Amino acid sequence: MTQAVDPVSDDIVTLQTHVLQEKRRHPDASGTLSWILSALSISAKIIAAQLRRARLENVLGAVGTENVQGEEQQKLDVIANTVLMRALGSREGVMVLASEEAEEPVVITENRGDDRGYCVLFDPLDGSSNLDVAGGVGTIFSILRHDRRSSRTEDSVLQPGDRQVAAGYVLYGSSTVLVLTTGEGVDMFVLDTSIGAFIRVERGLRIPESGRCYSLNEGNRRSFPAGYCAYLDWAQGNGYSSRYVGAMVADVHRTLLKGGVFMYPPTEKAPSGKLRLLYEANPMAMLIEQAGGQATDGQGRILEIQPTALHQRTPVILGSPAEVARVSEFLMPAPEAGAA
Ligand code: AHG
Ligand code: MN
Ligand code: MN
Repeated sequence: MTQAVDPVSDDIVTLQTHVLQEKRRHPDASGTLSWILSALSISAKIIAAQLRRARLENVLGAVGTENVQGEEQQKLDVIANTVLMRALGSREGVMVLASEEAEEPVVITENRGDDRGYCVLFDPLDGSSNLDVAGGVGTIFSILRHDRRSSRTEDSVLQPGDRQVAAGYVLYGSSTVLVLTTGEGVDMFVLDTSIGAFIRVERGLRIPESGRCYSLNEGNRRSFPAGYCAYLDWAQGNGYSSRYVGAMVADVHRTLLKGGVFMYPPTEKAPSGKLRLLYEANPMAMLIEQAGGQATDGQGRILEIQPTALHQRTPVILGSPAEVARVSEFLMPAPEAGAA
């Protein structure tokens, strides 16, 4: 059950206090994960400040280069990536960093043979096409233990999503919100800019069991697989609303709080879907499942996909259990005529 925190009567718990409380529950914890979360928190504050001043300091717009995805890089994509690389690269225990904006993983510490190190994967700025219109954008992160069996240190990032030890996002919207799971439920924090601290506002966030809202880019409808179109016809005939911001973090955050289903189906332009498995789909899938929701690629759990490449893409259907189940019904192949 989601516990709304009353900022007046309840203790004021900052993200830092929360992380220390969580660490105390795991006496064998080395504290390395806490340091990594602290670096992510500092990065989020710096990025939030940069975004608020972007138009004033003329750092909006494109750099004029493309990233490994063949997508035009925004100046703030590069700035956010640099902030995260610098903040995380200097933290004890970080072995590999991987970013949407870097072709290859960055090895910070060579394989030491122990597995106490971590890999941190991130989408430094998600929804960056919204930047120029002051729309919601975000940062998404995924944390894995280093896998010492990996032949090359950098291959340690290619682990299924159910091996994540933590995942979260920062939504730079009307307020700066950080949503985090370390595998024991989902907690939400809001940045109080007057004191420069993330304050916990929800503990044990739970996604509503259902929600009459679907979220996807209907401009691609002509190239969706038939099951998605059949679902849309059903939803539109049953009074569903459509909401789509075009930034995964904003669309997932609304789905997490209000219920419903977010999808990025396969399209002609993106036959495996547009969203990247390792630093968009997996962290969001962990959060949604930890909040009691479901996250599939249309066939099975996203968190069970065995990655083969850093930037591989996957279709995404995630949200309230009842809504994901409904979409899945429409995606199931029709029984063959005459089949028993
Ligand atoms: P990014 O800005 O990190 O490349 O991510 C953009 C993604 C995701 O945020 C969003 O859900 C999706 O692109 C929107 O894609 P369309 O514009 O094709 O709908
Ligand atoms: Mn993204
Ligand atoms: Mn991005």
